[in-house]
Amino acid sequence: MSERDLAVQRLVIPQILETNAYHVQNAKGYIKLDAMENPFIWPPEMKAEWADIAANTDVNRYPDPEASGVKSLLKQALPIPEAASVVLGNGSDELIQLLAMLVGKPGAKIYSPMPSFVMYRAIASSLGLDFISSPLNDDFSLNIDATLNVIANEQPELLFIAWPNNPTGQLYPVDDLIAIIECAEGLVVIDEAYMPFASDTFLHRVMSYPNVLVMGTLSKVGLAGLRLGFLAGPSEWCDQINKIRLPYNIGVLTQAAAEFALSHFDVLKAQTVEIKKQREMLAEQLAKYPGFEVYPSQANFILVRSNGKGAQEVFDSLKQHNILIKTLHGTHPLLDNCLRITVSSEQENKMLLDALSRIFC
Ligand SMILES: Cc1ncc(COP(=O)(O)O)c(C=O)c1O
Repeated sequence: MSERDLAVQRLVIPQILETNAYHVQNAKGYIKLDAMENPFIWPPEMKAEWADIAANTDVNRYPDPEASGVKSLLKQALPIPEAASVVLGNGSDELIQLLAMLVGKPGAKIYSPMPSFVMYRAIASSLGLDFISSPLNDDFSLNIDATLNVIANEQPELLFIAWPNNPTGQLYPVDDLIAIIECAEGLVVIDEAYMPFASDTFLHRVMSYPNVLVMGTLSKVGLAGLRLGFLAGPSEWCDQINKIRLPYNIGVLTQAAAEFALSHFDVLKAQTVEIKKQREMLAEQLAKYPGFEVYPSQANFILVRSNGKGAQEVFDSLKQHNILIKTLHGTHPLLDNCLRITVSSEQENKMLLDALSRIFC
């Protein structure tokens, strides 16, 4: 071991030495159906208008630390209650980290039913916090008894409920969410990353409880490259988070682009309507392949279990056809032979189905 390696081993916090960096598949040249991105770009006139705004956005000054323009347009675009405060993050990933830091005293616990979004556990362990969970049912519905049991016994400081859940796409019954909130003494974060594709939101209920925040992101409505997530809820919580948020976490260009995109929210909304339509058509078609078990989704992806050909074989074969999806096999016992496919445009969905037809012929 080199002297430098020894210094690293001696100085870096053990739980960081033990973890691996978040791995992102190399997607260059592939049809990308792996990361729940919106496939649609902006119409040419919108692009031209944005180019003009970008050219006139001065980058020599620090950004507005409050990003007030973005917040007020967010409130116009989404059903965020008037009385709610908003905190913005460099993607909701950053907000998950801030929330964990906020309550992360030694011995603090973070809870989420599993399988769910991988960053909850990753961020907990990078900060040396305990991550606890309870398993979903075999059909990925919420096992509410097991959930309430763990919460009552462990009383975690922070709870994440992805609603709809990633990678399963399910929107648990709202009564189960309320039961969790009423049982928990910790802060419950309803993570609504897939809000634009779901039939319900908790936003209009967020001010009714002492211990709830709703988290969202613009990533899935076509702005993944901007990195803009938000938390909405009571100011008592948001004020504390703002104390640890780095003051200029949302750059000048991100603020300008987000304001511009939010002032054209009708364009983004129309794209999500199309994706929801495509989701229903794709789910119906996927169910026709031998061994494919398709789970209902309220998000912009579809979870499929491949009971015939193994998930890895389907993943590899699609890759040979230049199509990238996500294999979940091996990530959780409930996800054996599962694949997660992002819903895309009619054209790309058809390319996926054509490739599957060749693989299964
Ligand atoms: C449930 C959930 N929460 C949060 C995120 C993070 O989103 P972002 O950091 O792009 O805002 C994701 C991303 O896939 C997600 O699936």
